[in-house]
Amino acid sequence: MKITFLALLIMASCIPMEQKGKLTFRDLRQEEIDEMERRQEAIRQAEVARLELQREKKREMEEIISDAKAGFEEIKPLLKSKCFDCHDSNTKLPAYGRIFPRINPIHKHQVEGIKALDFVDGYPLKAQGTPLQISLLKSIRDEVLDRGMPLKSYTLVYRSKRIFEEDERRILNWVDPLITRLQDFSGKYEPMESNPRSDALKILEMKCYRCHAHGVAKGGFGDMEDTKKLLSSGYVDLNNPDQSEIYKLSENKEMPTNKRDALSDHELFTLREWLILESKEKPKN
Ligand code: HEC
Ligand code: HEC
Repeated sequence: MKITFLALLIMASCIPMEQKGKLTFRDLRQEEIDEMERRQEAIRQAEVARLELQREKKREMEEIISDAKAGFEEIKPLLKSKCFDCHDSNTKLPAYGRIFPRINPIHKHQVEGIKALDFVDGYPLKAQGTPLQISLLKSIRDEVLDRGMPLKSYTLVYRSKRIFEEDERRILNWVDPLITRLQDFSGKYEPMESNPRSDALKILEMKCYRCHAHGVAKGGFGDMEDTKKLLSSGYVDLNNPDQSEIYKLSENKEMPTNKRDALSDHELFTLREWLILESKEKPKN
């Protein structure tokens, strides 16, 4: 404050007295102080708004999680009866499932099942590679609608563990509104940026990571989260971006494995746009 005052004093002394403007020393100082205060107030208000938005985001997520947990408890008995044998790390297999673990298909199903999805802690759901919750929820939805789960080899033996209409309805009643809420949440707080790179990476995160990233490598293809590694892998061809394996498989709907999860035309466009962008930025050799 002292320094500003001194500066003002010097500035004020430079204003020729006979000038027509009526700015006196006192007015100039006051104006300068007002302006400074206005700026400080604007900064303070922006900070308040930012913190409020953060608090609101946190509050909203906590509410979603708490509702999701409650909803999960309601369908837990159903999941326990039909899914936990392979999707709960606390469930112990019957003795015949535990012998010869290396070659026993029942044991193998449990190991693989738990990796793909572990209901042990309820919501948030666990899975190897910690994929996005929304991606896991959608995969549950897909499997239930397609009756892809429980595995056929299992329901052939345990007929009553198939998914029936009523089970489908109950599971979707939990999953669907939750997917919508999570979508709304990210639309509100993490909108797409209309930047092909970050948009494409978000699409891959949503549609591919749970089988090809963070330690999961279906078909021997993993580490997708490492963009540099992905771009220099055999799955991307920067000389012919739209001949890239990751693009071709997505375009002809071979990947993701479930057709319901196939990339939309807009998503394919974004993926292609990004690969072309990367091919242009690639250092020429
Ligand atoms: C007999 C064992 C078994 C049972 C019972 C079972 N699953 Fe699975 N599930 C698996 C295995 C094994 C995988 C991993 C498949 C793979 O790696 O391709 C899996 C994967 C999944 C996935 C991940 C699919 C994806 O696209 O990532 C979901 C979702 C799923 N199961 C849901 C369920 C639900 C819901 C139930 C109960 C209604 C259920 N499963 C019952 C064995 C089982
Ligand atoms: C539910 C699991 C799952 C999801 C999700 C998934 N994949 Fe796959 N992916 C697999 C499996 C299983 C294989 C190996 C078996 C096969 O080739 O069919 C595979 C293989 C691949 C391969 C290697 C093919 C080869 O011939 O070596 C590529 C590339 C691939 N996936 C790309 C993708 C892309 C891109 C996405 C997202 C748009 C995706 N995958 C989503 C399960 C998945």
